[in-house]
Amino acid sequence: MPGLVIVGAQWGDEGKGKIVDLLADRSDVIVRFQGGNNAGHTIVRDGEKFKFHLIPSGILHSGKVCVIGNGVVLDPRILLEEIDGLKRRGVDVSNLRISANAHLIMPYHVLLDTAGELKLGKLSLGTTRRGIGPCYADKALRLGIRVQDLLDEKILRAKMRTALEPKQQALRELSVRRRKLRKEAGEGAEKETGGGDSFEDPRLDLHTMTEEHVNYGHRLEPHIADTARLCWDALDAGRSVVFEGAQATLLDLDHGTYPFVTSSNPIAGAATVGAGVGPTDIDEVWGVAKAYATRVGAGPFPTELEDEVGKELVERGQEYGTTTGRERRCGWLDLVALRYAVRLNRMTALTITKLDVLSGIDPLRVAVRYRSKEGAIFDTFPYHQSILHSATPEYEELPGFDAEIENCRNEAELPPQARAYLNYIADFVGVPIRLVGVGPDRDQVVWIGEQPTLRAA
Ligand code: IMP
Repeated sequence: MPGLVIVGAQWGDEGKGKIVDLLADRSDVIVRFQGGNNAGHTIVRDGEKFKFHLIPSGILHSGKVCVIGNGVVLDPRILLEEIDGLKRRGVDVSNLRISANAHLIMPYHVLLDTAGELKLGKLSLGTTRRGIGPCYADKALRLGIRVQDLLDEKILRAKMRTALEPKQQALRELSVRRRKLRKEAGEGAEKETGGGDSFEDPRLDLHTMTEEHVNYGHRLEPHIADTARLCWDALDAGRSVVFEGAQATLLDLDHGTYPFVTSSNPIAGAATVGAGVGPTDIDEVWGVAKAYATRVGAGPFPTELEDEVGKELVERGQEYGTTTGRERRCGWLDLVALRYAVRLNRMTALTITKLDVLSGIDPLRVAVRYRSKEGAIFDTFPYHQSILHSATPEYEELPGFDAEIENCRNEAELPPQARAYLNYIADFVGVPIRLVGVGPDRDQVVWIGEQPTLRAA
C-alpha cells in the first residue's frame, strides 16, 4: 500500500502524531497536507519529549523525506524556530521539503484572528489565534503570499503591499469599535476587550515585514521544492508515502460542526489536493480516535461530561492542548460521530488511542444514537446544526476494566472487558481496529492482526 492517509476521526488531539511516527518507520515519504501551527503533537522517544507544530514527526527517522505540502499554511517564524530547535537536539532536518505553493501566515493574519475572536465576544469560536482562518481566507481571495514569494523581494513587497491595505483598514475598524466598547463599559474594560490597537502594530510596517521575510526566504530556500512532483516520483517508483492530516474530521470546514471548525479540510479526500496527488494514489485510509472523546474550543459536543468522570479523564489523560495549553473538554466515546467519520473518510482501518486512560472507570458508556429535543431518534450524524447542538446522546453501557494496561503488548494480554470494548467499537462502525495505544511512549501499543507492510516488495 504505497499511499496511506492518516486522519483524525474526532475533534482533534487523537494522538495522530504517534501513529504517524510508528508508520513513518515503514515508509519513505511523510507529507503533511493541511492546517498550520494550530496543530501540535508530542512524541515521546526513549523518554525524550519532542513537540511538533508544523514539521511531520517523521523527521525523527533518519533518511525519511518529510514534506510540508501545498495545502498547509505556515508561519515562517514558527517553522524556523522548530527547525532550529530540532537542530539543537541533534536531529538532521536536511530531508525537510516545503512546497513552494504553500501559503504563509503573515503577522496581520495573527492579529486579525485575535481581533476577530474579540469582536465575536461570547460567540467566539475559540480558535488557536495562530492566524489560520485569515490566511486561508486570503488564499481563497487570491491575496495570499506563498512560500515561493519569499525568494523574490520585488514580488514579495508588491504582494504584501496589496494584501496589507485591506487588513489595516479592517484592524482600524475593529479598534474603533473596541474603543467605543471600552468607553461604554467604563474603566477596567480595557483588559477584557483586548488592550492595544493592532493596526498600529510595528510588525505591520511594510519595510520591516519585507526585510524580515526576505531573511526567512534565505534560510528556508534549501528546503523549498516542487513537493507534488516529489510525491509522484516516490509513488511511481513504488515507494510508500504517508499523508498526514492535522486537526480532524469533525473540524472539517465542509463536513464538521460549522462554524466551529478549522478553515481547512482535514478529511482524507483533501490529501489529494493538499499534496498534489490523485485519488487513485491513495490505497488506505487510517482513522485515529481516542477511546473517549475530547474537544477544545467552542462548538457542539453531544457526549461532553461536566461531572467527576469528565474531570478524571482530563487528569488521567493529561488533556491539555499542546499548542495553547487549554484544558480540553472530555466526554464519552461518540459512536454516531465516529461512524460518520469512518464513512466520510472511507476508512480502511481504525486506531484507538489512550485506552489505558479508561482503566478504573466502570461502567464505560458509548453513545449509540441521539435524541432531539422533540424526541426524534437519530442513528446517523444529523446534518442540521440546531439538532446537533441540542441532541442528547443515548448510551450503551459496557463493563469497565480495573487492570492497568500500560505493559500490554499484544491483544491477548488486554483484559477481556477492554477487548470487548474494542470489538464493540469495530462492529458498530464497521472497520477493523488495527492498532491500540496503551500509553504515551512509542512502544506502548498493541497491534491487532498483522502489522502493515508499507514498502513495496
Ligand atoms: P483554528 O484552526 O485556530 O482557526 O481554530 C478553529 C477551531 O479548531 C477551534 O475550536 C480550535 O480549538 C480547533 N483546533 C484547531 N487546531 C486544533 C488541533 O490541532 N486540535 C484540536 N482542535 C484544534
